[in-house]
Amino acid sequence: MNYQHSIAFPEDFFWSAATAAYQVEGAHLEEGKNLSIVDKNINPNYADTSVTSDHYHRFKEDIALMKELGMTAYRFSISWPRVLPHGRGEVNQQGLQFYQNLVEELRENGIEPLATIYHFDLPACLQEEYGGWSSRQIIDDFAYFCKVLFENLGGQVKYWFTINEQSNMFLLPYLMEFDQELSLEKQKYEMNHIMTLAHAKAIKLCREVIPDAKIGPAIGLSPNYPESCRPEDVQAAREADDFRTYLFTDLYVHGRYRKNIWRYMEEHGVTPTIEEGDMELLQSAKPDFLGINYYQSRVVKYAPESLENKDMSINVDGKKGETEFEVIPGIYQGSSNPYLDKTDWDWEIDAIGLRTLLNELNDRYGLPIIITENGMGAVDVLTEDEKVHDEYRIDYLRKHLEQCRLAIADGVELFGYCPWSFMDLLSTTSGFRKRYGFVYVNRTDDDLKDLRRIKKDSFYWYQEVIRSNGQKL
Ligand code: BG6
Repeated sequence: MNYQHSIAFPEDFFWSAATAAYQVEGAHLEEGKNLSIVDKNINPNYADTSVTSDHYHRFKEDIALMKELGMTAYRFSISWPRVLPHGRGEVNQQGLQFYQNLVEELRENGIEPLATIYHFDLPACLQEEYGGWSSRQIIDDFAYFCKVLFENLGGQVKYWFTINEQSNMFLLPYLMEFDQELSLEKQKYEMNHIMTLAHAKAIKLCREVIPDAKIGPAIGLSPNYPESCRPEDVQAAREADDFRTYLFTDLYVHGRYRKNIWRYMEEHGVTPTIEEGDMELLQSAKPDFLGINYYQSRVVKYAPESLENKDMSINVDGKKGETEFEVIPGIYQGSSNPYLDKTDWDWEIDAIGLRTLLNELNDRYGLPIIITENGMGAVDVLTEDEKVHDEYRIDYLRKHLEQCRLAIADGVELFGYCPWSFMDLLSTTSGFRKRYGFVYVNRTDDDLKDLRRIKKDSFYWYQEVIRSNGQKL
């Protein structure tokens, strides 16, 4: 439904953009920083994490560009092994100082810092010591990391995201490490439970240390459409949403497991270990908002019991058609959407799906929502006269923002938009070949060149969007 009178974005809307530490900072072993599991496990066919966009050394220049763009907020993440090189214990003062300088510089430029505490980069030493997220020991270590951040940055940072894409890490666990001897599925549900406990503790701690702050998760979500109106397919789409979305959001918001998923876990012998007090902790830590990473929707159909179980295999090289869909026999299997265009990485471009998702979440949970990621990965071309004509990205973002405006008119309390990404950075799966930024970073996977910053056409477009508070899309 369209409305006769278009609605405006709220006056205090956060016009933001996002990045994550290991994808932009570089300096992966400088000034006391230690290795994370991402530093060790990033796709070896592309650039590594040692330099990336060199933001660690150029953050002032980058913040000046954010100001020029007109951003009113900036979502970034904090590297755990930069602040705590041993995962716990002694704080690396130089590492902490970097983030203090960063948030100070943002504030001086009128940009609200939006900090993600955990964006995939677990200290490698904790993985080696006790298996990282597979052990409950991590809950205390994560709480300690949070305490250091809240106590030292809490005066300046009033918006916090606990964990980035807990949901996707279980669908696409390309950066996680698992015990080869144990059932993968069982490990995922155990880790999910442990992560949710760590998230809940972080929320409670935040409320104690910075009572005027707001905190919530940043969840990676894709709504599932049925491939046909065959009732089996419609039910399969519902269940896909339960497994891939509502399992996580119900845990975060209500502190409970969905009954159908719990029964599935029992029947498959993969229930997580629940200790005394766990569910009470989860129930006592309702987030202030939901952060949503949205890139695409998905299509599913019923998967007969006779099929073989199969994990999703994602397209990492940007050659169309390489994605292989997941199959969960008796529940659902993925399929492609003939009505949608796709990126070179097979991501299906569906702006309306964002409105659908926002409304669905609003109806279920009634919490304020911020879009913590949304964007289009592409091979950008730098012309001889130093331009990047990324009209495909402008088109993608414009269509998604139009749907955000409609969702606000529908009644969704949307308070910010953080396109992915502010500048070109190391893609989690595909290095510097796959770019997302408003600002081009002059390097390739093999050649660091001069890392010069160049404003793309989308930079000037977003500048106008912000200047008009979203009236001019
Ligand atoms: C999200 C992550 O999953 O998607 C980001 O939070 C990531 O870290 C982004 O970069 C895009 O994915 P990719 O693989 O294209 O870099």
